Amino acid sequence: MDIPSNVIEKLQSAKKIVFFSGAGISAESGIPTFRGKDGIWNKLSPEELANFNAFIKNPKLVWEWYNYRKSIVHQAKPNLGHLAIVEFENIFSEVIVITQNVDNLHRRAGSKKVYELHGNIERNFCIKCKKHYDGDLDFQEGVPNCSCGGLIRPDVVWFGEMLPAEQFRLSEKAAQSCDIFLIVGTSAVVYPAASLVYTAKSNGAFLVEVNIEETEVSTIVDVSLFGESGKILPKIVEQIKQIRINK
Ligand code: OAD
Repeated sequence: MDIPSNVIEKLQSAKKIVFFSGAGISAESGIPTFRGKDGIWNKLSPEELANFNAFIKNPKLVWEWYNYRKSIVHQAKPNLGHLAIVEFENIFSEVIVITQNVDNLHRRAGSKKVYELHGNIERNFCIKCKKHYDGDLDFQEGVPNCSCGGLIRPDVVWFGEMLPAEQFRLSEKAAQSCDIFLIVGTSAVVYPAASLVYTAKSNGAFLVEVNIEETEVSTIVDVSLFGESGKILPKIVEQIKQIRINK
């Protein structure tokens, strides 16, 4: 697939580029998405696993689920899509990654400015005193407790919870001030994260979507590039580099 010329032209004059990513960018690393054909929320209910009440009711079950997710994430490696974003950072002066993913793969790929809207599965904290526990936890004697006696939970945003305020504030600022906003591998149905697409649009950014299928925002973006992000993003980088060489 050739990248449409208007996307390449916009990129050539862009100063600030924002990527807004979702589970789809990590699909090619072997991490299942939430929705769609093979989405995990088709088989499991988020209400049973991804909310605070579920955790209080059955912390063991919720931790089993997160430890399982963690084992998948640990086996996974950043793919060509994550790595292409790092290449963008080498070419353009200001690139920001806003992600809904908790898998840490953007950072592991080498991205420097990453705002995590839904937390990070590598971090944990005590529900009582909020102390952070970021190393491996010991589950030999059941669900780990903090020294204050509170339960330790994963540092991910559950349904019904607020997003990390500072990460969201910085993301809004980035969406308001960017020239190009690339929406990669997200169904864009979970709010408030998805509102950033509209923030970017109303502030005049050029919107490019990269997804294997149509989404909620396909009708409002300037260009939809349909295909796997691990193929499309490297292609964009390749075309930009080619132009720079020929200049
Ligand atoms: P979804 O599972 O809702 O959407 C994944 C999107 O990625 C879909 O639109 C797919 O079509 C697309 N996709 C799949 N494979 C792809 C590929 N190789 N290349 C490009 N696109 C691909 O995931 P999110 O939009 O991230 O929240 O979901 C948002 C939030 O809902 C998650 O952060 C999570 C979930 O509940 C919390 O846990 C708070």
